[in-house]
Amino acid sequence: MSRPRFITVEGVEGAGKSTCMALLEQRILARDHDVSVTREPGGTALGETLRELLLGHRHDGMGEDTELLLMFAARAEHLRVKIEPALVRGEWVLCDRFTDATYAYQGYGRGIELSRIAFLEDWVQGDRRPDLTLLLDLPIEQGLQRAGKRSAPDRFERQTLDFFERVRQGYLEMAASEPARYRVIDAAQALEKVSEQVVTVIDSYLDDVA
Ligand code: TMP
Repeated sequence: MSRPRFITVEGVEGAGKSTCMALLEQRILARDHDVSVTREPGGTALGETLRELLLGHRHDGMGEDTELLLMFAARAEHLRVKIEPALVRGEWVLCDRFTDATYAYQGYGRGIELSRIAFLEDWVQGDRRPDLTLLLDLPIEQGLQRAGKRSAPDRFERQTLDFFERVRQGYLEMAASEPARYRVIDAAQALEKVSEQVVTVIDSYLDDVA
């Protein structure tokens, strides 16, 4: 049996991450791998509490560095309590967002220097990086329209279109600079077409690492 892989899903709001996560889980389980499904910020009791603080409106004026450090605090706990133990047990880990989201939102979006994020990434993660990342890409307005139908906007969903454009371009830049890890999915298409792309990507990845 091949070693367990760490797979992440990224994209702007309303890109269809939940559907993608469910499909990935199904396809990986179909190959008889155990899977641990999780998300960021969150994934642990402490992480979910930090998520509430980060996404809620109670601390709307939160500083950018505070936001960045809380993301990494949640991540440190997540790696320690959930991700690393799952990989050691031989389970694949499927995570809805990870550090690429920090580069995209806090780096490209908020304007924090990427080298600062890289420093925290090395500190908190050591050598741990995702093996595969699916980026669901679509025009911002289309995504926000979908996300807006679901629920009241959280602290991030209230950002400007310019902010989300920077986030999207940041993701696309990262994907272009790391083609071996990233697969970009055109998430602007109809749901079944998006699902087809996701299945093609994960099935060929599973074939390659078998
Ligand atoms: P979501 O997982 O429901 O999409 O919401 C999480 C929000 O948190 C989303 O707007 C992106 C944001 N986020 C960051 O800004 N930085 C991060 O490192 C992570 C993991 C999420």
